[in-house]
Amino acid sequence: MSEAPTRVVLVGFMGAGKSAVGACLAERLGYQFEDMDQRIEERTGRTIAALFEERGEETFRKEERREAAALARLDRRVVAAGGGAFVHPRTRAILREDALTVWLRCDLETLLGRIRDDGARPLAGNRAIMRALLAEREPSYRQADLAVDTSEGTPQEVADRIVDLIERSIPIGRSSER
Ligand code: S3P
Repeated sequence: MSEAPTRVVLVGFMGAGKSAVGACLAERLGYQFEDMDQRIEERTGRTIAALFEERGEETFRKEERREAAALARLDRRVVAAGGGAFVHPRTRAILREDALTVWLRCDLETLLGRIRDDGARPLAGNRAIMRALLAEREPSYRQADLAVDTSEGTPQEVADRIVDLIERSIPIGRSSER
Protein backbone atom coordinates (compact mmCIF):
# COMPACT_ATOMS: atom_id res chain seq x y z
CA MET A 1 0.00 0.00 0.00
CA SER A 2 1.70 3.20 -1.12
CA GLU A 3 -0.27 5.52 1.10
CA ALA A 4 -2.51 3.89 3.64
CA PRO A 5 -5.84 5.60 4.34
CA THR A 6 -6.11 6.81 7.91
CA ARG A 7 -9.57 5.30 8.22
CA VAL A 8 -11.43 2.66 6.25
CA VAL A 9 -15.19 2.99 6.65
CA LEU A 10 -17.40 0.04 5.73
CA VAL A 11 -20.92 0.91 4.63
CA GLY A 12 -23.86 -1.10 3.36
CA PHE A 13 -27.13 -2.70 4.32
CA MET A 14 -27.91 -4.59 7.52
CA GLY A 15 -26.50 -8.10 7.22
CA ALA A 16 -23.86 -7.17 4.63
CA GLY A 17 -21.10 -8.21 7.06
CA LYS A 18 -19.70 -4.82 8.08
CA SER A 19 -18.81 -5.87 11.63
CA ALA A 20 -17.42 -9.32 10.82
CA VAL A 21 -15.45 -8.12 7.80
CA GLY A 22 -14.38 -4.97 9.66
CA ALA A 23 -12.80 -6.96 12.49
CA CYS A 24 -10.82 -9.10 10.00
CA LEU A 25 -9.80 -6.08 7.95
CA ALA A 26 -8.60 -4.20 11.04
CA GLU A 27 -6.47 -7.19 11.98
CA ARG A 28 -4.92 -7.34 8.52
CA LEU A 29 -4.18 -3.61 8.40
CA GLY A 30 -2.98 -3.44 12.00
CA TYR A 31 -5.72 -0.86 12.69
CA GLN A 32 -8.19 -0.69 15.55
CA PHE A 33 -11.74 -1.82 14.81
CA GLU A 34 -14.66 0.45 15.71
CA ASP A 35 -18.32 -0.49 15.52
CA MET A 36 -20.45 2.67 15.37
CA ASP A 37 -23.57 1.07 16.83
CA GLN A 38 -21.61 -0.48 19.67
CA ARG A 39 -20.01 2.88 20.48
CA ILE A 40 -23.43 4.56 20.50
CA GLU A 41 -24.76 1.88 22.85
CA GLU A 42 -21.79 2.30 25.18
CA ARG A 43 -21.97 6.09 25.18
CA THR A 44 -25.74 6.36 25.68
CA GLY A 45 -26.10 3.31 27.94
CA ARG A 46 -28.98 2.12 25.74
CA THR A 47 -29.34 -0.57 23.12
CA ILE A 48 -30.07 0.58 19.57
CA ALA A 49 -33.54 -0.96 19.89
CA ALA A 50 -34.19 0.98 23.11
CA LEU A 51 -32.95 4.23 21.55
CA PHE A 52 -35.37 3.84 18.65
CA GLU A 53 -38.24 2.89 20.93
CA GLU A 54 -37.72 5.47 23.67
CA ARG A 55 -36.34 8.41 21.73
CA GLY A 56 -37.25 7.75 18.09
CA GLU A 57 -35.25 7.38 14.90
CA GLU A 58 -34.47 11.12 14.63
CA THR A 59 -32.60 11.02 17.93
CA PHE A 60 -30.77 7.87 16.89
CA ARG A 61 -29.65 9.58 13.66
CA LYS A 62 -28.33 12.52 15.69
CA GLU A 63 -26.37 10.13 17.91
CA GLU A 64 -25.07 8.45 14.78
CA ARG A 65 -23.87 11.78 13.39
CA ARG A 66 -22.21 12.61 16.69
CA GLU A 67 -20.44 9.26 16.67
CA ALA A 68 -19.25 9.78 13.09
CA ALA A 69 -17.74 13.12 14.17
CA ALA A 70 -15.97 11.49 17.13
CA LEU A 71 -14.55 8.79 14.85
CA ALA A 72 -13.35 11.38 12.34
CA ARG A 73 -10.81 12.48 14.93
CA LEU A 74 -9.25 9.02 15.25
CA ASP A 75 -6.46 7.57 13.11
CA ARG A 76 -5.74 4.03 11.93
CA ARG A 77 -9.28 2.81 12.37
CA VAL A 78 -11.55 0.43 10.48
CA VAL A 79 -15.11 1.60 11.09
CA ALA A 80 -18.27 -0.48 10.65
CA ALA A 81 -20.98 2.13 10.02
CA GLY A 82 -24.62 1.40 10.83
CA GLY A 83 -26.71 0.51 7.77
CA GLY A 84 -28.41 3.91 7.63
CA ALA A 85 -25.44 6.11 8.48
CA PHE A 86 -24.16 6.61 4.92
CA VAL A 87 -27.68 7.32 3.71
CA HIS A 88 -27.96 10.55 5.68
CA PRO A 89 -26.04 13.26 3.78
CA ARG A 90 -24.50 15.06 6.77
CA THR A 91 -23.35 11.83 8.40
CA ARG A 92 -22.08 10.57 5.04
CA ALA A 93 -20.01 13.74 4.56
CA ILE A 94 -18.42 13.29 8.00
CA LEU A 95 -17.71 9.59 7.41
CA ARG A 96 -15.99 10.42 4.12
CA GLU A 97 -13.56 12.92 5.66
CA ASP A 98 -10.00 11.63 5.10
CA ALA A 99 -11.36 8.10 4.85
CA LEU A 100 -11.56 5.38 2.26
CA THR A 101 -15.17 4.23 2.12
CA VAL A 102 -16.08 0.71 1.02
CA TRP A 103 -19.58 -0.48 0.15
CA LEU A 104 -20.18 -4.09 1.18
CA ARG A 105 -22.69 -5.05 -1.48
CA CYS A 106 -24.85 -8.11 -1.01
CA ASP A 107 -27.92 -9.61 -2.68
CA LEU A 108 -31.27 -9.37 -0.94
CA GLU A 109 -31.73 -13.12 -0.38
CA THR A 110 -28.40 -13.40 1.42
CA LEU A 111 -29.13 -10.29 3.48
CA LEU A 112 -32.52 -11.63 4.54
CA GLY A 113 -30.96 -14.95 5.49
CA ARG A 114 -28.40 -13.20 7.68
CA ILE A 115 -30.66 -10.76 9.49
CA ARG A 116 -31.98 -12.41 12.58
CA ASP A 117 -35.52 -11.48 13.56
CA ASP A 118 -34.58 -10.84 17.20
CA GLY A 119 -35.74 -7.24 17.55
CA ALA A 120 -32.18 -5.91 17.69
CA ARG A 121 -32.63 -4.14 14.35
CA PRO A 122 -35.69 -1.89 14.53
CA LEU A 123 -35.79 -1.29 10.78
CA ALA A 124 -35.60 -4.94 9.74
CA GLY A 125 -39.03 -5.67 8.35
CA ASN A 126 -40.48 -8.21 5.97
CA ARG A 127 -39.08 -9.04 2.55
CA ALA A 128 -41.05 -6.31 0.72
CA ILE A 129 -39.99 -3.63 3.21
CA MET A 130 -36.36 -4.70 3.02
CA ARG A 131 -36.40 -4.78 -0.77
CA ALA A 132 -37.82 -1.24 -0.89
CA LEU A 133 -35.37 0.05 1.72
CA LEU A 134 -32.42 -1.49 -0.10
CA ALA A 135 -33.51 0.04 -3.43
CA GLU A 136 -33.94 3.43 -1.76
CA ARG A 137 -30.49 3.26 -0.17
CA GLU A 138 -28.41 1.87 -3.03
CA PRO A 139 -27.74 5.29 -4.63
CA SER A 140 -26.19 6.40 -1.32
CA TYR A 141 -24.07 3.26 -0.91
CA ARG A 142 -22.83 3.71 -4.50
CA GLN A 143 -21.14 6.91 -3.41
CA ALA A 144 -18.51 4.88 -1.53
CA ASP A 145 -15.02 4.88 -3.03
CA LEU A 146 -14.93 1.11 -3.52
CA ALA A 147 -17.46 -1.70 -3.69
CA VAL A 148 -16.96 -5.34 -2.84
CA ASP A 149 -19.48 -8.16 -3.06
CA THR A 150 -20.06 -9.99 0.21
CA SER A 151 -22.73 -12.46 -0.96
CA GLU A 152 -20.05 -15.16 -1.00
CA GLY A 153 -16.88 -15.86 0.92
CA THR A 154 -15.91 -15.75 4.56
CA PRO A 155 -15.36 -12.39 6.30
CA GLN A 156 -11.62 -13.12 6.08
CA GLU A 157 -11.82 -13.66 2.32
CA VAL A 158 -13.80 -10.45 1.86
CA ALA A 159 -11.26 -8.56 4.00
CA ASP A 160 -8.46 -9.97 1.81
CA ARG A 161 -10.26 -8.74 -1.31
CA ILE A 162 -10.60 -5.27 0.22
CA VAL A 163 -6.87 -5.20 1.00
CA ASP A 164 -6.18 -6.12 -2.65
CA LEU A 165 -8.47 -3.34 -3.82
CA ILE A 166 -6.83 -0.81 -1.52
CA GLU A 167 -3.40 -1.81 -2.77
CA ARG A 168 -4.54 -1.35 -6.37
CA SER A 169 -6.12 2.03 -5.61
CA ILE A 170 -3.57 4.60 -6.65
CA PRO A 171 -4.44 7.26 -5.89
CA ILE A 172 -6.56 5.90 -3.06
CA GLY A 173 -10.25 5.96 -3.75
CA ARG A 174 -10.17 6.14 -7.52
CA SER A 175 -10.36 2.44 -8.30
CA SER A 176 -13.37 0.19 -7.98
CA GLU A 177 -14.43 -3.41 -8.45
CA ARG A 178 -17.74 -2.18 -9.82
C1 S3P B 1 -29.84 0.53 10.77
C2 S3P B 1 -28.88 -0.46 10.81
C3 S3P B 1 -28.31 -0.96 12.07
C4 S3P B 1 -28.45 0.08 13.18
C5 S3P B 1 -29.86 0.54 13.29
C6 S3P B 1 -30.36 1.21 11.99
C7 S3P B 1 -30.35 0.98 9.45
O1 S3P B 1 -26.93 -1.26 11.88
O2 S3P B 1 -27.60 1.17 12.97
O3 S3P B 1 -30.67 -0.55 13.61
O4 S3P B 1 -30.91 2.08 9.37
O5 S3P B 1 -30.14 0.24 8.47
P1 S3P B 1 -26.42 -2.58 11.09
O6 S3P B 1 -26.35 -2.22 9.63
O7 S3P B 1 -25.07 -2.82 11.66
O8 S3P B 1 -27.38 -3.67 11.36
